[in-house]
Amino acid sequence: MNILQIHSSARADGSHSSRLARRIVERVHASLPEPSDARITVRDLGRTPHPELNEAALQALFTPAEQRTPAQAARVALDDTLITELQAADVVVLGVPMYNFGVPAPLKNWIDAISRAKVTFQYTANGPEGLLKGKKVYIALTRGGQYRNTPADTQVPYLQTVLSFLGMTDVQLVYAEGLAMGPEAEQQALALAQAQIDELVIEELVAA
Ligand SMILES: Cc1cc2nc3c(=O)[nH]c(=O)nc-3n(C[C@H](O)[C@H](O)[C@H](O)COP(=O)(O)O)c2cc1C
Repeated sequence: MNILQIHSSARADGSHSSRLARRIVERVHASLPEPSDARITVRDLGRTPHPELNEAALQALFTPAEQRTPAQAARVALDDTLITELQAADVVVLGVPMYNFGVPAPLKNWIDAISRAKVTFQYTANGPEGLLKGKKVYIALTRGGQYRNTPADTQVPYLQTVLSFLGMTDVQLVYAEGLAMGPEAEQQALALAQAQIDELVIEELVAA
């Protein structure tokens, strides 16, 4: 059982999304029949940002492997590491703050790195097919305001679309909203998020 825990907050300490992601992992881990068999990999994109998809990176990707310069090979290898890590994961837990109504740039860079044609998705005569199947995904979403189920929440539709495109359709969400709306609202939001974590459906995971 491989659990991949991904943080994307710019904050090292005091990040609510990272703390909630950690708690989800703890819950999943504690529910396993053989917790000692689990391998937890933590990738903190805030501390170790993945490079953006710029022109040099695109050129490296579209150059056949045997013709790449050492610099191009090294750039592609960085993406390969993230893809291999994700392919190996049975469970993926994402901590995702809302930044200016979108996902943090380091998380977008991660998504650009893991979305690779013929590796993590492919187009068939019937349309696109995601190749990262059979994974369970949990996402801890933190926001200063309250946007759940409103048109302003572009994060959730985006994440669900791109994850499903890659084959990850089993996605459960945990929200902590209103974190900037005063200490009382913050405490309530965090308590509610913990309650959502306690209620996550993990029975199938245990049975698998
Ligand atoms: C640069 C920046 C942009 C933000 N943009 C939004 C936003 O668009 N909507 C919102 O509700 N909260 C916004 N917030 C508040 C964060 O979502 C909130 O503080 C969240 O807890 C941050 O996640 P973290 O605790 O994991 O660091 C923003 C915070 C920062 C630092």
